[in-house]
Amino acid sequence: KPLVFSGVQPTGNLHLGNYLGAIKKFVALQDTNDCIYCVVDLHSLTAQLVHQDLGEQTRSITAAFLASGIDPKKHIVFNQARVMQHAELAWIFNCVARIGWMNRMTQFKDKAGKDRENASLGLLAYPSLMAADILVYRATHVPVGEDQKQHLELTRDIAQKFNNDFSARIAELGVGVEMKVGEETVNGFFPITEPVIGGPAARIMSLRDGSKKMSKSDPSDLSRINLTDDADTISKKIKKAKTDPDALPGEVEGLEGRPEAENLVGIYAGLADMSKEAVLSEFGGQQFSVFKPALADLAVEKMAPVAGEMRRLMADPAYIDSVLRDGGNRARVIAEGTMKKVREIIGLLGD
Ligand code: TYM
Repeated sequence: KPLVFSGVQPTGNLHLGNYLGAIKKFVALQDTNDCIYCVVDLHSLTAQLVHQDLGEQTRSITAAFLASGIDPKKHIVFNQARVMQHAELAWIFNCVARIGWMNRMTQFKDKAGKDRENASLGLLAYPSLMAADILVYRATHVPVGEDQKQHLELTRDIAQKFNNDFSARIAELGVGVEMKVGEETVNGFFPITEPVIGGPAARIMSLRDGSKKMSKSDPSDLSRINLTDDADTISKKIKKAKTDPDALPGEVEGLEGRPEAENLVGIYAGLADMSKEAVLSEFGGQQFSVFKPALADLAVEKMAPVAGEMRRLMADPAYIDSVLRDGGNRARVIAEGTMKKVREIIGLLGD
């Protein structure tokens, strides 16, 4: 049975990239699947250990989930630190994964910079905790933006190596399930997770520079639309977005070599639930002086209510905390069920 898991870090402001690349998909998937959505506070310690407003940021991501339409009664919404089984499984995965696998991660290379010897061990092991987040629930589907693809491939490698290394014990204990790995059918304990990436908004770029992704850490606030921006700010940022002097093409091929134009078309498509083709068949041949106001109106129509609802929810931190506590209690039951079996497979003594 499919189970969806995904996580968002409580670092900085959420932006339109997070919304279109991830949160909007979380909402779409909840109608037909069981879903677990997590604010990954332990992961955020790799970026900033001493964090004055970690609690506030954790609540703010939770508010964004709820304001976007995630139903915390039908699904599970919680913060990672409440379920210590994530950290326990991450430790085991640290012993499954190889240092070379971690060293190859582009996100690690980017974040560690030149002085790699001085990066925290947590930053290197980040993907191992991410694999644990997913696999402690034996989740099968993970909706994320394009930038998380490599981490999800590593999650699959870790699951596969664990299944292989312990195949005899898994069979002996009868805790495996039949699964397809490529052409082969194997009996494994952890599923080989499917990434859910794609659509026109899997990689939203900066509004100031079409070669950089929209990011929480960009020093220019004009580079992104924050989930908390009001209507005027959203309009202003779209009108100031970098473009080129040409009209929009009639076909997607015409966007090649025009990253800023392609990005704005992708944003329109993501917000309107259309394909880029459909957007261009409506706006092909038009100048940005026509397209930008249409995009600004659409963005305000879709995003301003989310911002408003987030503000309303943030005024009631006790409610948000009750959602996280309840979600944590439900998540812990599933996670502990997995860990009991994992301890048994490995041969760790416990009750
Ligand atoms: P994070 O917190 O950086 O981002 C949250 C989600 O937003 C997506 N995203 C984007 N999508 C499109 N365009 C962009 N410019 C853009 N920027 C961010 C991300 O791909 C992500 O889906 N490692 C993860 C958090 C995590 C996780 C997990 C995710 C921890 N454990 C388990 C899935 C499953 C991260 O840093 O996301």
